[in-house]
Amino acid sequence: MKIIVAIDGYSSSGKSTMARRLAHEIGYLYVDSGAMYRAVTLYALRHGFAAAGRVDAEGLISDLPAIEISFALDEAGNQHTLLNGEDVEKEIRGMEVSEMVSPVAAIPEVRRRLVSLQQSYGSDKGIVMDGRDIGTTVFPGAEMKVFVEASPEVRARRRLLELEEKGMPADYDEVYANICERDRIDTTRAESPLRKADDALVLDNDNLTREQQMAWLLERFHEIAG
Ligand code: CDP
Repeated sequence: MKIIVAIDGYSSSGKSTMARRLAHEIGYLYVDSGAMYRAVTLYALRHGFAAAGRVDAEGLISDLPAIEISFALDEAGNQHTLLNGEDVEKEIRGMEVSEMVSPVAAIPEVRRRLVSLQQSYGSDKGIVMDGRDIGTTVFPGAEMKVFVEASPEVRARRRLLELEEKGMPADYDEVYANICERDRIDTTRAESPLRKADDALVLDNDNLTREQQMAWLLERFHEIAG
Protein backbone atom coordinates (compact mmCIF):
# COMPACT_ATOMS: atom_id res chain seq x y z
CA MET A 1 0.00 0.00 0.00
CA LYS A 2 1.35 3.44 -0.93
CA ILE A 3 1.31 6.14 1.70
CA ILE A 4 1.96 9.88 2.02
CA VAL A 5 5.11 10.99 3.84
CA ALA A 6 5.06 14.56 5.20
CA ILE A 7 8.36 16.05 6.39
CA ASP A 8 8.24 19.44 8.11
CA GLY A 9 10.73 21.52 9.99
CA TYR A 10 12.70 24.71 10.30
CA SER A 11 14.74 26.35 7.57
CA SER A 12 17.91 24.47 6.58
CA SER A 13 17.21 21.57 8.91
CA GLY A 14 18.25 19.16 6.19
CA LYS A 15 14.69 18.12 5.39
CA SER A 16 14.95 18.50 1.64
CA THR A 17 18.04 16.31 1.27
CA MET A 18 16.50 13.73 3.56
CA ALA A 19 13.11 13.80 1.82
CA ARG A 20 14.67 13.53 -1.65
CA ARG A 21 16.82 10.56 -0.63
CA LEU A 22 13.95 8.80 1.07
CA ALA A 23 11.74 9.23 -2.01
CA HIS A 24 14.52 7.85 -4.20
CA GLU A 25 15.08 4.80 -1.94
CA ILE A 26 11.38 3.88 -1.78
CA GLY A 27 10.50 4.80 -5.37
CA TYR A 28 8.10 7.63 -4.46
CA LEU A 29 7.59 11.04 -6.05
CA TYR A 30 9.38 13.86 -4.22
CA VAL A 31 7.97 17.40 -4.03
CA ASP A 32 9.86 20.33 -2.49
CA SER A 33 7.06 22.68 -1.44
CA GLY A 34 9.54 25.38 -0.37
CA ALA A 35 10.76 25.60 -3.98
CA MET A 36 7.22 26.57 -4.98
CA TYR A 37 7.14 29.47 -2.48
CA ARG A 38 10.61 30.45 -3.65
CA ALA A 39 9.50 30.49 -7.31
CA VAL A 40 6.52 32.76 -6.51
CA THR A 41 8.95 35.01 -4.62
CA LEU A 42 11.25 35.19 -7.63
CA TYR A 43 8.27 36.20 -9.75
CA ALA A 44 7.41 38.92 -7.20
CA LEU A 45 10.98 40.26 -7.26
CA ARG A 46 11.14 40.30 -11.04
CA HIS A 47 7.81 42.09 -11.39
CA GLY A 48 8.41 44.73 -8.74
CA PHE A 49 6.01 43.26 -6.18
CA ALA A 50 8.80 42.70 -3.65
CA ALA A 51 11.71 44.97 -2.79
CA ALA A 52 13.68 46.08 0.26
CA GLY A 53 11.91 43.73 2.64
CA ARG A 54 8.40 44.79 1.59
CA VAL A 55 5.82 42.90 -0.46
CA ASP A 56 3.02 44.45 -2.52
CA ALA A 57 0.56 41.68 -1.61
CA GLU A 58 -2.31 43.11 -3.65
CA GLY A 59 -0.24 43.36 -6.81
CA LEU A 60 1.12 39.86 -6.40
CA ILE A 61 -2.33 38.39 -5.68
CA SER A 62 -3.74 39.96 -8.86
CA ASP A 63 -0.93 38.30 -10.83
CA LEU A 64 -1.33 34.84 -9.25
CA PRO A 65 -3.31 33.41 -12.20
CA ALA A 66 -0.31 34.27 -14.43
CA ILE A 67 2.14 32.27 -12.31
CA GLU A 68 2.66 28.66 -13.25
CA ILE A 69 4.96 26.41 -11.30
CA SER A 70 6.02 22.94 -12.33
CA PHE A 71 8.93 20.52 -11.95
CA ALA A 72 11.15 18.75 -14.46
CA LEU A 73 13.83 16.08 -14.07
CA ASP A 74 17.25 16.46 -15.68
CA GLU A 75 19.26 13.53 -17.10
CA ALA A 76 20.86 12.86 -13.70
CA GLY A 77 17.42 12.59 -12.12
CA ASN A 78 17.67 15.92 -10.27
CA GLN A 79 14.50 17.92 -9.87
CA HIS A 80 14.39 21.44 -11.30
CA THR A 81 11.77 24.04 -10.50
CA LEU A 82 10.16 25.78 -13.47
CA LEU A 83 8.53 29.21 -13.31
CA ASN A 84 6.28 29.70 -16.33
CA GLY A 85 8.38 27.09 -18.11
CA GLU A 86 11.76 28.66 -17.27
CA ASP A 87 14.27 26.67 -15.19
CA VAL A 88 14.84 28.83 -12.10
CA GLU A 89 16.34 26.13 -9.86
CA LYS A 90 19.57 27.99 -9.17
CA GLU A 91 18.14 31.48 -8.86
CA ILE A 92 15.52 30.53 -6.27
CA ARG A 93 18.23 29.30 -3.87
CA GLY A 94 20.06 32.64 -3.64
CA MET A 95 19.95 35.07 -0.71
CA GLU A 96 17.80 37.59 -2.58
CA VAL A 97 14.92 35.10 -2.72
CA SER A 98 15.65 33.78 0.81
CA GLU A 99 15.32 37.32 2.18
CA MET A 100 11.81 37.76 0.74
CA VAL A 101 10.32 34.27 0.74
CA SER A 102 8.80 34.19 4.24
CA PRO A 103 6.78 37.42 3.85
CA VAL A 104 5.52 36.14 0.48
CA ALA A 105 4.67 32.73 1.99
CA ALA A 106 2.65 34.45 4.74
CA ILE A 107 0.11 35.80 2.19
CA PRO A 108 -3.04 33.64 2.59
CA GLU A 109 -3.96 33.76 -1.15
CA VAL A 110 -0.47 32.56 -2.12
CA ARG A 111 -0.70 29.71 0.38
CA ARG A 112 -4.16 28.64 -0.74
CA ARG A 113 -3.07 28.42 -4.34
CA LEU A 114 0.10 26.47 -3.64
CA VAL A 115 -1.55 24.18 -1.09
CA SER A 116 -4.19 23.09 -3.61
CA LEU A 117 -1.49 22.42 -6.21
CA GLN A 118 0.45 20.40 -3.61
CA GLN A 119 -2.65 18.40 -2.70
CA SER A 120 -3.22 17.54 -6.35
CA TYR A 121 0.28 15.96 -6.52
CA GLY A 122 -0.67 13.63 -3.66
CA SER A 123 -3.98 12.36 -5.03
CA ASP A 124 -2.47 8.94 -5.85
CA LYS A 125 -0.33 8.83 -2.67
CA GLY A 126 3.22 7.45 -3.12
CA ILE A 127 4.64 10.87 -2.40
CA VAL A 128 7.21 12.45 -0.06
CA MET A 129 6.70 16.19 0.43
CA ASP A 130 8.71 18.51 2.61
CA GLY A 131 7.91 21.97 3.92
CA ARG A 132 6.43 23.78 6.91
CA ASP A 133 2.74 22.82 6.93
CA ILE A 134 2.63 19.52 5.07
CA GLY A 135 1.59 17.39 8.05
CA THR A 136 -0.77 20.03 9.46
CA THR A 137 -2.49 21.61 6.42
CA VAL A 138 -1.55 20.05 3.08
CA PHE A 139 -1.89 16.39 4.13
CA PRO A 140 -3.30 16.29 7.67
CA GLY A 141 -4.15 12.62 7.05
CA ALA A 142 -0.60 11.63 5.97
CA GLU A 143 0.27 8.17 7.26
CA MET A 144 3.85 9.17 8.14
CA LYS A 145 4.73 12.59 9.53
CA VAL A 146 8.20 13.69 10.55
CA PHE A 147 9.15 16.94 12.25
CA VAL A 148 12.85 17.78 11.94
CA GLU A 149 14.64 19.83 14.55
CA ALA A 150 18.18 21.23 14.65
CA SER A 151 19.77 24.23 16.33
CA PRO A 152 20.02 27.53 14.35
CA GLU A 153 23.83 27.45 14.52
CA VAL A 154 24.03 23.98 12.96
CA ARG A 155 21.47 24.99 10.34
CA ALA A 156 23.34 28.19 9.44
CA ARG A 157 26.62 26.30 9.00
CA ARG A 158 24.87 23.74 6.77
CA ARG A 159 23.25 26.43 4.62
CA LEU A 160 26.56 28.29 4.24
CA LEU A 161 28.26 25.11 3.03
CA GLU A 162 25.41 24.40 0.63
CA LEU A 163 25.62 27.91 -0.85
CA GLU A 164 29.41 27.59 -1.21
CA GLU A 165 29.01 24.25 -3.00
CA LYS A 166 26.61 25.95 -5.44
CA GLY A 167 29.18 28.69 -6.12
CA MET A 168 27.12 31.28 -4.23
CA PRO A 169 29.29 32.12 -1.19
CA ALA A 170 27.59 34.05 1.62
CA ASP A 171 28.40 35.48 5.02
CA TYR A 172 27.74 33.35 8.16
CA ASP A 173 26.14 36.20 10.13
CA GLU A 174 23.85 37.08 7.23
CA VAL A 175 22.76 33.46 6.78
CA TYR A 176 22.27 33.00 10.54
CA ALA A 177 20.15 36.17 10.78
CA ASN A 178 18.07 35.12 7.78
CA ILE A 179 17.37 31.70 9.29
CA CYS A 180 16.29 33.22 12.62
CA GLU A 181 14.08 35.79 10.91
CA ARG A 182 12.42 33.14 8.71
CA ASP A 183 11.83 30.92 11.78
CA ARG A 184 10.13 33.89 13.43
CA ILE A 185 7.87 34.73 10.48
CA ASP A 186 7.11 31.06 9.69
CA THR A 187 6.06 30.22 13.27
CA THR A 188 4.02 33.36 13.96
CA ARG A 189 2.08 33.90 10.71
CA ALA A 190 -1.71 33.61 10.93
CA GLU A 191 -2.23 31.19 8.03
CA SER A 192 -0.93 27.63 8.73
CA PRO A 193 2.13 28.55 10.79
CA LEU A 194 5.03 26.15 11.15
CA ARG A 195 4.30 23.78 14.02
CA LYS A 196 4.71 20.12 14.78
CA ALA A 197 1.58 18.07 14.02
CA ASP A 198 0.41 16.26 17.16
CA ASP A 199 1.00 12.88 15.51
CA ALA A 200 4.42 13.69 13.98
CA LEU A 201 7.58 11.76 14.85
CA VAL A 202 10.37 14.09 15.97
CA LEU A 203 13.80 13.78 14.40
CA ASP A 204 16.46 15.85 16.15
CA ASN A 205 19.31 15.77 13.70
CA ASP A 206 21.92 18.01 15.36
CA ASN A 207 24.09 15.00 16.11
CA LEU A 208 23.09 12.56 13.41
CA THR A 209 24.97 11.87 10.20
CA ARG A 210 23.03 11.71 6.94
CA GLU A 211 23.38 7.91 6.98
CA GLN A 212 21.96 7.66 10.52
CA GLN A 213 19.03 9.88 9.51
CA MET A 214 18.30 7.74 6.48
CA ALA A 215 18.43 4.53 8.50
CA TRP A 216 16.00 6.04 11.03
CA LEU A 217 13.61 7.23 8.30
CA LEU A 218 13.64 3.95 6.39
CA GLU A 219 12.97 1.97 9.57
CA ARG A 220 9.97 4.19 10.42
CA PHE A 221 8.73 4.01 6.82
CA HIS A 222 8.78 0.20 6.75
CA GLU A 223 7.07 0.02 10.14
CA ILE A 224 4.24 2.24 8.88
CA ALA A 225 3.90 1.20 5.23
CA GLY A 226 4.43 -2.50 5.96
O1 CDP B 1 15.46 25.46 2.18
P1 CDP B 1 14.93 26.06 3.40
O2 CDP B 1 14.80 25.05 4.48
O3 CDP B 1 15.60 27.30 3.81
O4 CDP B 1 13.46 26.56 3.11
P2 CDP B 1 12.48 26.12 1.98
O5 CDP B 1 11.94 24.77 2.30
O6 CDP B 1 13.13 26.33 0.66
O7 CDP B 1 11.30 27.18 2.19
C1 CDP B 1 11.51 28.55 2.00
C2 CDP B 1 10.44 29.33 2.72
O8 CDP B 1 9.17 29.05 2.12
C3 CDP B 1 10.26 29.05 4.20
O9 CDP B 1 11.09 29.82 5.05
C4 CDP B 1 8.79 29.40 4.41
O10 CDP B 1 8.64 30.78 4.63
C5 CDP B 1 8.15 29.05 3.09
N1 CDP B 1 7.45 27.74 3.09
C6 CDP B 1 6.18 27.68 3.62
O11 CDP B 1 5.69 28.68 4.13
N2 CDP B 1 5.46 26.53 3.56
C7 CDP B 1 6.00 25.43 3.02
N3 CDP B 1 5.26 24.31 2.97
C8 CDP B 1 7.30 25.45 2.50
C9 CDP B 1 8.02 26.63 2.57
